[in-house]
Amino acid sequence: DLMDQITRLEELFVVPTEKLKEITDHFVNELTKGLSVEGGSIPMNPTWCMAFPDGYETGTYLALDMGGTNLRVCEITLPEEKGEFDIIQSKYRMPEELKTGTAEELWGYIADCLQQFIEYHHEDEDLQALPLGFTFSYPATQEFIDHGVLQRWTKGFDIEGVEGHDVVPPFEAALAERGVPIKLTALVNDTTGTMIASAYTDPEMKIGCIFGTGCNAAYMEECGSIPKLAHMNLDPSLPMAINCEWGAFDNEHKVLPRTPYDIIIDKESPRPGQQAFEKMIAGLYLGEIFRLVLVDLHGNPDCKIFDGQEIPKLKKAYSLDAGFLSAIEEDPFENLQETADLLQNKLSLVATKPELELIRRLAELIGTRAARLSACGVAAICKKKGWSSCHVGADGSVFNKYPHFKVRGAQALKEILDWPAGKGKGRNDPIEVLPAEDGSGVGAALIAALTLKRVAKGQ
Ligand code: BG6
Ligand code: GLC
Repeated sequence: DLMDQITRLEELFVVPTEKLKEITDHFVNELTKGLSVEGGSIPMNPTWCMAFPDGYETGTYLALDMGGTNLRVCEITLPEEKGEFDIIQSKYRMPEELKTGTAEELWGYIADCLQQFIEYHHEDEDLQALPLGFTFSYPATQEFIDHGVLQRWTKGFDIEGVEGHDVVPPFEAALAERGVPIKLTALVNDTTGTMIASAYTDPEMKIGCIFGTGCNAAYMEECGSIPKLAHMNLDPSLPMAINCEWGAFDNEHKVLPRTPYDIIIDKESPRPGQQAFEKMIAGLYLGEIFRLVLVDLHGNPDCKIFDGQEIPKLKKAYSLDAGFLSAIEEDPFENLQETADLLQNKLSLVATKPELELIRRLAELIGTRAARLSACGVAAICKKKGWSSCHVGADGSVFNKYPHFKVRGAQALKEILDWPAGKGKGRNDPIEVLPAEDGSGVGAALIAALTLKRVAKGQ
């Protein structure tokens, strides 16, 4: 019956402390392997962002943020001395069709948005080319900060002819075609941008994390600890921001407790075998995992969930997003009225009280697993670096909006790192994961400023 099903789901989705520790230990090794000459499954991409800001970065920059959900353009003026930024920004929709369209459509659309922005805010001005920090949040191989070869699309993107190529030339060509006066100064990952923006206001910030459509982190490594850069004879004490691309952790399936549903998600995705860790955590997949479980239970003769009802809407892949799960988790447990309404309105399904309770428990299990697994990544970076205390700047829709995500993550960190009683609540913990307000825009601008500073110094 339904109670048995709940027990079965708990067995599948609960990740106990010992497992968290085992995952973290393997994670530490994989981070190191990613920096080696042979490499591993985590890319550990050097980003050529080679300094934290000191607060004296100045100038006006454009920042373009091409994440998963939105396209944002900002113009940021950094103050003469650490203080308030001046920001103007416009948000554009990232049309769903673009994610699986052609490269030309993608670059054309982005260039159109930038053109609109410039025309609107700088009408009739004779503009010098503005320096741009482009937050391109996909794994890229960089030999210079203003170039990047896309390793592979993630987060459901699937645009032909971009993987394996430098993304900057076609992007600049689209701008040139439209006569848009912009000079790309830095290509930045959202995690690096988040780390730099967070460190600008808080010197204890050492890691930038995104828990959103995708899931990833960046931190500052020393060049001397990056064997795959040894051939460049860089000063070993220089810092280098590493975009971990930890979504690819455990692509070999050695430690992660994958369920049959995770296996389906992977198989049906545009890039099977990739992003094993991300597919269990990121917002893009949370609703889909939930949907797959419900479809399975409906077809299970021992359980008979939604008995006698057809489920055409539930059968549609990716029809439920993380917001759907959030709403279920936010619903007061007493009557689960909101959950009943959601099922009715969105899926045309009527659920009994025990079914509503199972659905609520399932959302909790999926949301809790995501938060706990993501803590393994944070703990692994800190262990690798020997940091027993630091701040972590985090951004993304899951971190900012998913109920209890922060507290569940903090609790898992406590279990992994054996903190004493009283810790693990998120506030004043030795390792604290804090919201990074408006990371990517400010971060990209700061990185563009740091880059120009470095160029001016001839480094
Ligand atoms: C935003 C950052 O707030 O969060 C972006 O500015 C980042 O750079 C994004 O990509 C991630 O969240 P989501 O939920 O949009 O994937
Ligand atoms: C995916 C991308 C990565 C990005 C993350 C968060 O994992 O590959 O580059 O940082 O999503 O947006």
